[in-house]
Amino acid sequence: MSTFKLDGREIPFEPGDSVMRAAWRQGIEIPHYCWHPGLSVAANCRMCLVHITSGRQLEMPQLVKDPETGEYKQATKPKLVPACQTPAAEGLEISSNNEEVTRAQSSVQEFLLLNHPVDCPICDQAGECKLQDYYEEHLHQLKRKRTEPVHKPKGVRFGPTIVFDAERCVLCTRCIRVSEELAKDPVLSKRERGNKSEIVLSPGRELDHRYTLMTEHVCPVGALTSRDFRFKARVWFLRSADSVCDGCARGCASHADFDPRKGLIERLRPRDDERVNQYWMCDDGMLSYRAQREDRIESATIGRGPERRFVSNTNALAEAAAMLRGVESGKLAVVLSAAHSTEDNLAMVALNKALGGKLFLAARPDWEGDDILRRDDQNPNRKGALLAAGASELPDLSALGEAIREGSIAGVIALGAAADLDIAASDALKSVPLISLNTHISELAALADIVLPVAMHFETEGSFVNFEGFIREFEVVVPPQPAVRPTAEVVASLATGAGIALEHRDQRSLRARAREMISESVTEAGA
Ligand code: SF4
Ligand code: SF4
Ligand code: FES
Repeated sequence: MSTFKLDGREIPFEPGDSVMRAAWRQGIEIPHYCWHPGLSVAANCRMCLVHITSGRQLEMPQLVKDPETGEYKQATKPKLVPACQTPAAEGLEISSNNEEVTRAQSSVQEFLLLNHPVDCPICDQAGECKLQDYYEEHLHQLKRKRTEPVHKPKGVRFGPTIVFDAERCVLCTRCIRVSEELAKDPVLSKRERGNKSEIVLSPGRELDHRYTLMTEHVCPVGALTSRDFRFKARVWFLRSADSVCDGCARGCASHADFDPRKGLIERLRPRDDERVNQYWMCDDGMLSYRAQREDRIESATIGRGPERRFVSNTNALAEAAAMLRGVESGKLAVVLSAAHSTEDNLAMVALNKALGGKLFLAARPDWEGDDILRRDDQNPNRKGALLAAGASELPDLSALGEAIREGSIAGVIALGAAADLDIAASDALKSVPLISLNTHISELAALADIVLPVAMHFETEGSFVNFEGFIREFEVVVPPQPAVRPTAEVVASLATGAGIALEHRDQRSLRARAREMISESVTEAGA
């Protein structure tokens, strides 16, 4: 592989790489604001200037002040180049930290801060702001400018999700490029020149495409803030875990940032995954963290309609086990869920095998996909659920309703919320004993005789299989509420109560089985 030298270190590069991208692949950060690996090169911030020390040197004229006489003298200095725009070439020798470069970095940093309000104590970006980081690394001196800064609009509502502060903006244009290049909606642009420059909306428009939160995500400073996250948490109090979005069949890799003091997830951020979501997530996916706290089922219940009452897990499990034992042989329906992990579905499949039931599949209805990330299929794990069942397709809940009416099903145990329930199926379900293992309040849980709370994907480790067959593994982000347990544990307790043996009883063996099964049939993804 071809290489060049950066600060004495050999850096391999691929054809078409810039110096910045090749260094970034090696985990080396050349300071930058406007460059982003998923966007075109704008080369406007000049923070990434480097010195090519090999080959013919280009000189720039400059005036230098003589410290003794105070007179300015003609001199020259080496011409620095932006690393983000300079193609990598074999044998180049580059410095990103010699005296010329460090002087340029500190000058650019000082220039960007000339009119900046430095309102870090009330800025949501504080703690993860490039202006703060680079000030510490490359400037670290008091502002020399004594005059009033140029003032610009603050707290401008750009749309339903984003608020803009023009004074904090460093005009890197990343937000413009996200709208144009990712969302294919050129709703943002730049107007005026010099220190009057400002990011503006197209006339008559709002920032309201499906990837608006990505403009905030790429903003290197606190100029664009998400209305959802604004003033909600200081980032240094948050911890992060690797998760996966369950919003659709894409399964975008995410960082789930949570407050360990409250056990609550406060936001999601995209996690780089070249093969699945590159650097991005859609707005619906970014806001899907709310499902961790909204409409949760946190206690077992027994009884239908006005008879429903909260009970302990022990009582609910004993009743459910008795109900399972009471269903006529061969007439039990076990409903898998396309929104639950492969491991959860494997636990249900094991239960079905032991009880000799019939498998069905519940799924969320389609939503509007696009040709960027979003899939029409709102289910993160249709493929994994089918793999767990060893089937290419399974009958849905309408078919279950039909089977109940025909008399071939006399009892149901269902995993998940089953948002595709139609009226006929829901009427049929009212006529048979129904056990629901559920994370959220839903129509299916409302119809059930017994509801057992189970953990959602933020609260347990596991995996989905996305529409392309990539494994999407996730870890525990926050613990569930005390009465909420992983599906595998609930199913194992039910099996014990019903006096049956299961092939896989615990989460660990289910994970091992899921990995083994998936590696036999689909592609491993490097999440
Ligand atoms: S708002 Fe943020 S992303 Fe947009 S140009 Fe300004 S600094 Fe860059
Ligand atoms: S595209 Fe799908 S998986 Fe990705 S963030 Fe959006 S809803 Fe989530
Ligand atoms: S990162 Fe190269 S000029 Fe902005």
